[in-house]
Amino acid sequence: MTFDRIVQVLTESTSRRTVLRSLALGMSGRLLTLGGASGLAVEDKATAAARQKQHNDCPRSRRCKKRCCRRGETCKGGRCVKKQPPVHVRRSVHSLDESGPALTALARGIAVMKARESSDPTSWIFQANIHGTNDGAGANWNQCTHGSFFFLAWHRMYLYWFERILRKASGNPSLALPYWDYSESDQRIVPRPFRTPSSSLYVAQRNADVNAGQPPPAENAWMFDHSPAFETVNFFHTGSGTSFGGLQVSEALHSGGGAGQLENTPHNQVHSWVGGGSGWMGTVAMAARDPLFWLHHANIDRLWKRWLDQAGGRANPTGDGDWMNDTFTFFDENGTEVTMSGKQIVDTAQQLNYRYDDDGAASGAAAARREKGASAAGKQSVKELGKSKGAGGVDLGTDPVTVPIGLGAALPDAGASSTERRADAGVVLTLEGIQGTGVLGVAFEVYVNLPKDQQPSPRDDAFVGGVSLFGLQPQDAAAMGMGHTMMPAALSFDITGAVAGRRASGREVTVTLVPVNLDASRRLPKAPLAHLDSLVVSIVQ
Ligand code: C2O
Repeated sequence: MTFDRIVQVLTESTSRRTVLRSLALGMSGRLLTLGGASGLAVEDKATAAARQKQHNDCPRSRRCKKRCCRRGETCKGGRCVKKQPPVHVRRSVHSLDESGPALTALARGIAVMKARESSDPTSWIFQANIHGTNDGAGANWNQCTHGSFFFLAWHRMYLYWFERILRKASGNPSLALPYWDYSESDQRIVPRPFRTPSSSLYVAQRNADVNAGQPPPAENAWMFDHSPAFETVNFFHTGSGTSFGGLQVSEALHSGGGAGQLENTPHNQVHSWVGGGSGWMGTVAMAARDPLFWLHHANIDRLWKRWLDQAGGRANPTGDGDWMNDTFTFFDENGTEVTMSGKQIVDTAQQLNYRYDDDGAASGAAAARREKGASAAGKQSVKELGKSKGAGGVDLGTDPVTVPIGLGAALPDAGASSTERRADAGVVLTLEGIQGTGVLGVAFEVYVNLPKDQQPSPRDDAFVGGVSLFGLQPQDAAAMGMGHTMMPAALSFDITGAVAGRRASGREVTVTLVPVNLDASRRLPKAPLAHLDSLVVSIVQ
């Protein structure tokens, strides 16, 4: 860099005097990196003046020494700068050595937390109870938010405070939660320590296959696939649209009725698979007692960031006052109550001192640019085209069920314009009023216009997604003090592609729901497994 260029950079800086002084110090002293403007932090005039005074107060030394900087500051390159806590890196659990320091610290921290009294906010049980519990209503228990656009934010905060508690308990200041990346089929088997009964990472209350190191059957691969969620551009939806992050609400709900695509798949599906027929991960009340819960949620949190990376209009709902400002209560590593809101968690590296091992190099400025031009919600207008008949709704049992939906108008020719249509517009199928009957470890594949004689397969393009009953079971409702019925949930699927090539009759859509038993160690009872109030086909524009 030429001297002219250096001067130009300095001139552009808002705290020119300070910088000039640093430059002078740097030139006469040892250190000055002039590879770019990165060392020249932008600061306001008042701060700059305060710093200047401090430097003036310094003993006669070329560069400031520790004692000339204020508390919480440190001397860097001749200037007092705010001390930055280290940025912890959350790594893929499969990249960690089974007996290496990271997993050893994780196991130790969990063991220490488990040994604490459950009345201690930093204990394993208390922390799990913040998510959900059958043990009654302790301070700040049963707080998790599902089925709305607060889902991702609340769980990010929950993990952040849990991780701080765990780090301190482990005695390892560099502990970070690993994440479980089950998108790769060979990584669905959890590492050995999680399957070893003597380890604090093990719980017996899981799907037998998980603890036996068996991968899920290949035909269930869709349950672990986040790519349909990634195709969704808008963060939240209203009414019966679809979105990445969930239904827009003005207040967080323990169990809202509108899960986003990522919450439904893979999040809910992985819960149901790990929990199986009777394990902890299958219910909201017990899930966080399984160490895998934390790795699963670290992955969901990571996928939120990877979704944003895809740009193309994807953005956090930073324009929504409720999402930004509603506060939630947690506990820090000293057991002190703390509160947090959405605006404090949008940038994990800057605000929460952690990142993922696959975080890109996208700078803060680039991210800000991206958010500016983006709209978190598609301006969706929803027009209902048809609804299933029958006031009693539909029971889903161990046999596939096919439901015809008559349409009041022919479907628009979406096929012809599918490349031009907005990513958040199209034909949408909504399953309304989904409730489980209490049988855990069940999912449903959803098909549209499946030919009568054709075997359903998730690889077919009649497959539009799946239903999970995680959080929609009577045992979830009971734990949440909601009696036996949950808030009715609605789940929407983009079926534009599926109907495009399969408009057997332009005035009808058929929906086929196929049950999947996620726990090979038991047979499904010959009884209703779930209930739907109705199925609706709409056009979203
Ligand atoms: Cu609050 Cu994975 O659930």
